Amino acid sequence: MDSDPNGPWVAARAGQVAISAIKEMAMLSAKVEGAASLAWGLPSFQTPEPIRKAVEAQLESDPEIGMYALPDGLPELRAAVAERHRESTDITVDPDDNVMITAGNMEGVNCLLQAILDPGDEVIVTDPGFVSHIEQIRVHGGTPVFWPMDEAADWQIDLDALPGLVTDRTKAIILVSPSNPTGKIFSRDTLCQVGAIAQEHGLLVIIDDPYRYFTYENQTRYFNLASEPEFAGNVAYLFTFSKCFAMSGWRVGYMILPAHLKRQAVKLHDLTMICTPRISQVAALAALEGDPEHLSEFEAILERRRKLICERLDAVPHVFQYVKPEGAYYVFPRIVAQHTNSSAFARGLLREARVTVTPGRAFGPSGENHVRMAFCVSDDAINLAFDRIEKHFPA
Ligand SMILES: Cc1ncc(COP(=O)(O)O)c(C=O)c1O
Repeated sequence: MDSDPNGPWVAARAGQVAISAIKEMAMLSAKVEGAASLAWGLPSFQTPEPIRKAVEAQLESDPEIGMYALPDGLPELRAAVAERHRESTDITVDPDDNVMITAGNMEGVNCLLQAILDPGDEVIVTDPGFVSHIEQIRVHGGTPVFWPMDEAADWQIDLDALPGLVTDRTKAIILVSPSNPTGKIFSRDTLCQVGAIAQEHGLLVIIDDPYRYFTYENQTRYFNLASEPEFAGNVAYLFTFSKCFAMSGWRVGYMILPAHLKRQAVKLHDLTMICTPRISQVAALAALEGDPEHLSEFEAILERRRKLICERLDAVPHVFQYVKPEGAYYVFPRIVAQHTNSSAFARGLLREARVTVTPGRAFGPSGENHVRMAFCVSDDAINLAFDRIEKHFPA
């Protein structure tokens, strides 16, 4: 026991999981005074006022506000979610059979993977893709199978490569569009082809969708595979209020699942946390029922920041080369300055220039020699980071 590098009692399963590089960089950054951080996708926005006011009123008037809710969520919220899903996809789902309220997409994906993975099962993830999916698959005994995206084609999906990645152990494919970390929006045609391949091989497509309202001039490119009746039965759709409603600290989202998967996921959600905090569900209901007028305001600010970060990147071609993000609020530039690897580069940049970015390697093998920058932070933080980068890497 003493010889275990993780110390006594630690399970091999936990020991092998890496801490998310995003959070690791955020923690290192917090120790560097005055660091300009582009590491964490934490929007600078406050939760919109109507949502805060609705919660305030409910706190005063509802004697049950401090109590557990049903494990799958408040019935009125599940009904509102089913209605929102119908409006946005034209697909009718049953609030009892198909809708589960989660403590955000991180917890939702976790429950879902736990529900579907036996040891040795495989899940296909885009490479680069969201760092936590990789470790979530591993912690539940699965193996992430990396599906390289084509940087030369603006991080497009390589459809031809997909069938070759499927084995008799493959259970699912996880997709994020607009993507974290590349900002890529996958087209309707591409997603339907993925859906067809998934269906042919009996795979579940897990759509983790935090950024659907951040699509800038590419709004019409956004497509939800869950809205295609042909594939809806093969899709688990997850939405979170964290980003588009600036509610990351409330920890609330929802899943639309085939009924048999909901039955499994609810048990795992109950074992983890019994229910999503009731107060956060009240906030989510207010978000769905209210007028989403904050969305255009958020998007206009993010659009300005996207333009700003692209201009600042354009001014340092000897340090970074990048693909303009189509959506979400990340850019994933390739490091062209002298460096050994993305992790050493990111740590050096923090230590020597007080700028925090996330090393690209954490997002999959194709992420090596890249960094992820989040442009949801203030304009001042973006400018400060790039003033320092320019000074650190004179042209
Ligand atoms: C793809 C993806 N999934 C999940 C999350 C976490 O979402 P939540 O706050 O809903 O857990 C993020 C946050 O960065 C994300 O980018």
